[in-house]
Amino acid sequence: MHVARSRIIGAVSALVVFAGAAQAGTFPDFGYKPPSSYTGPIFQLSQSYPQKLPTGELPAFFKLLPSPLTNNFEQWRPYAEAAKKYCLEGNVESDWYVQKNTVRKWYHVPWQHYGPLGREGIHGLTKEAQIQTKQLAPTQTTTGQTFAVGIYNDIGGYTIGEVWKDSQNPDPSVTSKPNSFHNGTVVCKPLFADIDLKQVPFLVNPVLWQAFVTDSFNSANRSIKPVALIQMDFAVRDSRVPGTGWIFGTFQYNGAVTGKPGWDNLVPVGVMWGNDPEETGDSYTNKQPTVTKINPDIKQSAINAKPELPPTHLGWNGRLDGPVDNPVSACLSCHMTAESPQLSPMNPTFQAPDKVPPIGSKEWMRWFQNEEAGTPFDAAAKSTDFSLQLDGGIANFYEWKCTQDGVFVQGGNACQHTNLKLKLMKSVTPPPTIYKVERDQVLEQLH
Ligand code: HEC
Repeated sequence: MHVARSRIIGAVSALVVFAGAAQAGTFPDFGYKPPSSYTGPIFQLSQSYPQKLPTGELPAFFKLLPSPLTNNFEQWRPYAEAAKKYCLEGNVESDWYVQKNTVRKWYHVPWQHYGPLGREGIHGLTKEAQIQTKQLAPTQTTTGQTFAVGIYNDIGGYTIGEVWKDSQNPDPSVTSKPNSFHNGTVVCKPLFADIDLKQVPFLVNPVLWQAFVTDSFNSANRSIKPVALIQMDFAVRDSRVPGTGWIFGTFQYNGAVTGKPGWDNLVPVGVMWGNDPEETGDSYTNKQPTVTKINPDIKQSAINAKPELPPTHLGWNGRLDGPVDNPVSACLSCHMTAESPQLSPMNPTFQAPDKVPPIGSKEWMRWFQNEEAGTPFDAAAKSTDFSLQLDGGIANFYEWKCTQDGVFVQGGNACQHTNLKLKLMKSVTPPPTIYKVERDQVLEQLH
């Protein structure tokens, strides 16, 4: 609770600071303003979303999609490398102040500034999961924390603008069946680790950013510290892909590749386009990796088998996952739960121990089905189409709106008091709960 109060103050002060800024947008830029000793550039939310669906050509790397889709990563390599270039072009040069990118436009999702995990003010990084001991390497004996920033291309930016067209009434039906993100949407997300670099061999020659981050995962106190590029995710909405309509891929940092710091040290981990719903085994799950265990029975992920990829844990039973992701999940499994309101946890293990279903059981496999783009994970919710930033941002918005950053003597929040509930949810049959924030259990420790 202590932490929850202090972050509210952070969010309010950011609002005040930016109220008079020359180019202030509709949505706040960040929740945690760096101290005045910091004189470098400041993060601004890229929120001039396109008003019309961009009609130009699809990103050129779409032509490199392997046909048929295969779990042989070498067939995917040209696609993955071209997707990486698409994410990096113009962004590395402008240090990810994406409004300065002269190659193509990129946009951020609103309402990620709010809460204890909210955006910091240097690069707009949000706080992600804790890094567990030995998750990255056998020599990594202390824990760490992760920070990240996600960006959407113009086709995706158009949809974000549609969802948030009315800034007081976000509309997730824009991304829910029969709707979805439009074909050609691309999302990129670099992730940074705050960890003892000496313990993680592949973080040699690191790419470092200064970031205004918590002192440690369980701390609410922030200071400016260097964080090291460790992973870069991408997500592509591609209507040719059967089952899900999405391709997720990731890269892991390996500073030995070029021998000097640079974004070209990002080596592919792999791609995935389905959750392998028939695969119920657990023998390739690898929480403390000494080698990368590639499961040949996983057909809808393709993993890089070359030694350029440092030993890494992957996801549940060898599905795709990145080094700082949860090793009993997988990219599409977690992202498939994106919905508003969030009625289910992102992973079967993110609930009370007596509720966690047996590994591989029918209940467990609910998180490893394939669902088409725009399908809500729970029938009573609207899908935010694999976007956990949209779903989290909307949840943050309602949490703020309902609490109004204050409490009533007689208990309850503003929504419970005024019956605002029904007006707040844009839905014909409003679900019983209007906001229910389910996060990684580790993150729950913050509240
Ligand atoms: C255990 C859950 C989980 C797993 C596993 C996971 N993610 Fe995410 N991801 C999130 C959450 C939560 C967010 C939103 C918060 C944020 O971006 O800070 C997110 C955000 C993203 C975004 C930004 C777009 C968006 O709005 O969702 C991309 C792209 C992304 N993840 C790709 C990946 C890829 C690729 C993988 C696998 C290598 C992966 N994720 C694995 C939870 C997960």
